[in-house]
Amino acid sequence: MTIDDVKKVAVIGSGAMGNGIAQVCAMAGLKAVMVDIKQEFLDKGMATVNKSLDVLVGKGKLTAEGKAQVMANLSTSLSNAEAVKDVQVVIEAVPEIMDLKKKVFAEISAAAPADALLASNTSTMSISEIATAGKNPERILGMHFFNPAPVMKGVEIIYAKNTSDATVDLLCELTKKIGKVPIKVLKDSPGFIVNRIGAPNQALISAVLDAGIKTDPIDTIMKALAGMPMGPFELADYVGIDVFYHTLKYYSETLSPEFKPGKALQALLDSKKLGMKTGQGIYTWEGGKAKIDASEQSQEFGPMEFLATQINEAVRVYKEKIAASAADIDLGMVHCMRAFAGPFAMGAGMDPQQLSDTLMKLHKRFGLNIFKPEPEIVDGSFKQMK
Ligand SMILES: NC(=O)c1ccc[n+]([C@@H]2O[C@H](COP(=O)([O-])OP(=O)(O)OC[C@H]3O[C@@H](n4cnc5c(N)ncnc54)[C@H](O)[C@@H]3O)[C@@H](O)[C@H]2O)c1
Repeated sequence: MTIDDVKKVAVIGSGAMGNGIAQVCAMAGLKAVMVDIKQEFLDKGMATVNKSLDVLVGKGKLTAEGKAQVMANLSTSLSNAEAVKDVQVVIEAVPEIMDLKKKVFAEISAAAPADALLASNTSTMSISEIATAGKNPERILGMHFFNPAPVMKGVEIIYAKNTSDATVDLLCELTKKIGKVPIKVLKDSPGFIVNRIGAPNQALISAVLDAGIKTDPIDTIMKALAGMPMGPFELADYVGIDVFYHTLKYYSETLSPEFKPGKALQALLDSKKLGMKTGQGIYTWEGGKAKIDASEQSQEFGPMEFLATQINEAVRVYKEKIAASAADIDLGMVHCMRAFAGPFAMGAGMDPQQLSDTLMKLHKRFGLNIFKPEPEIVDGSFKQMK
């Protein structure tokens, strides 16, 4: 199969991610069928796409005829088997439950054409394990979109244990065809590339909370100096303390026990202080805004600390050969996280001594080895990683 043979895609699950993925496929001129378990979920998914397209029309980015064409490219189905029978690519976006993913992969691999590519949009599950439920593991891989799918440009294309190069290459081409930037992930490893690089930042947030350090001055300096629309603690509240907690727990089980969510996060979770959605988390939220005291800026934790841990983790991702190159890691952070520049590009202009001092300070302060500088940070040789 070549990219020109790809005419129709099935998206399994029409929730937060699924409808956005179906929309981008339909906007690229592909037929896209969305599947869900209840008609009301499909209706909600279609309504979300409709609204999203209206916004584009309102901004002059899409004509009314263009919108009609996109809507005509979309269809819905309540049956996985029925939906996948004439597609070239299936993208699964059902909830993050391993047994459910396996059940879906068993269904779709039995019903889809023999040469169809089957992708999972999972953020955390092992794609190699999901693939055990399918028939042809060489055609099963990860296709990790970021939220919101219509907006975020980067998509991680992930090799599972038995995925063929041809499968990955074709899906990379498809990713480009739908207007996105593919980032090849060579190993099915926790957090893939982009979320993995952010993992020590999450651990740092947990450690700061446990130490009882005031977060308002940290968020304030991050917004002032790093130009972030939200500070890291504010963002944790925005994403949801439950999601934040479970991500760290997953890393603690798969990457290192040091990622274990701390007592402060546990207490917030137990008391259902989940952030913006419950009105209270690290901060109190009113009208979709966190109440943050912006009168002072932290002298102790700021952009340097958060960036240093990211660069350090990027070096680990590089050494573990999860990414094809340092340039790919940078590309991933720019397009999947909307970072201003990637960790290697940022690190290129920085003093290795300052980076390792910063990391050693965090390592000693919190007693965590995940903050310890990699040897390539200490001697500056990370700058030669290409
Ligand atoms: N939400 C995010 O920010 C985000 C980002 C990247 C990746 N992901 C991943 O994408 C996947 C989907 O996440 P989401 O946030 O869209 O979830 P969601 O709960 O919003 O949507 C999942 C949909 O799948 C449907 N579904 C359940 N069982 C099904 C079945 N057997 N067949 C067909 N449809 C079924 C559900 O009814 C629901 O509508 C997960 O693996 C998640 O880890 C999520």
